[in-house]
Amino acid sequence: MILLKTCVEVQNYITEQKKQNKTIGLVPTMGYFHQGHLSLMEKAVRQCDKVVTSIYVNPLQFGPREDLASYPRDLERDLGLAKGAGVDVIFAPTDSEMYPQGFNTTVSVGEELTDKLCGSKRPGHFTGVSTVVTKLLNIVKPHKAYFGQKDAQQLLVIKRVVADLNMDTEIVAVPTVREQDGLAMSSRNTYLTPEQRAAATVLYQSLQMAKGAVKEGRRRVPEICQMVADQIKKEPLAKLDYVELYSYPHLKSIDEITGPALLAVAAFFGKARLIDNIILEA
Ligand code: PAJ
Repeated sequence: MILLKTCVEVQNYITEQKKQNKTIGLVPTMGYFHQGHLSLMEKAVRQCDKVVTSIYVNPLQFGPREDLASYPRDLERDLGLAKGAGVDVIFAPTDSEMYPQGFNTTVSVGEELTDKLCGSKRPGHFTGVSTVVTKLLNIVKPHKAYFGQKDAQQLLVIKRVVADLNMDTEIVAVPTVREQDGLAMSSRNTYLTPEQRAAATVLYQSLQMAKGAVKEGRRRVPEICQMVADQIKKEPLAKLDYVELYSYPHLKSIDEITGPALLAVAAFFGKARLIDNIILEA
């Protein structure tokens, strides 16, 4: 496995590999790997000849009061884990490499996908994500790029960018990897105290409860959202940010579940803001 820090080095590597007809997979990350990240890399390794994993904590997608400065970082540990997963290249650029002086272009997806869920709670977040992912896709020009269903809205936004900008990359969705008690793995779980960690299971439990209710025939969206909100509010260490339910994958507002629907939640546990979601089927 090799570590590259500049765009030109990555571009030269990719040109060489493509001359040899190798298929390229890209796994964009912000590092501090857990099994969720590794499942993306493992899938990429199974499906592609050469896999590039980027590690970059992208300042453009953090709000002014968010956790950019404290976001966990450990490049040495990440290098060992990526190597173990069979990754060929780590691309770990600096801020000035990604956003050199004069940088002045952003990619922003329209409101239909971004004015709700995390998009409304984190203004500018998805423009930051779309911009950095567009740059990574243009640098690596992969045949396939891998994203987690854990960040369901992000996945839909990236699919939109790739379709709208005629990018020649297939976006591959990977299921959410969870801890034994159901908590979705996240680099931000490291912020949790033991008490908050125990409390955080309420997110998965509330989603499962909603799934059970739908299975029993409940279809009214306000009722299901209220049930999930009540469940999360019962946990004293949780501060609910949102519970929302939309049609999937178009994220249209609905009153009743009649087809696939995305139920998504966000809550603070101390300073950690955690998200989770589930796809419900009528
Ligand atoms: P990051 O949070 O590091 O996540 C990198 C990728 O891992 C994303 O596609 C995310 O959905 C996926 N992932 C995270 N937790 C997961 C889990 N428990 N199960 C499965 N997949 C999981 O998402 C980002 O970084 C950034 O926004 C990025 C796309 C890299 C752009 O900066």
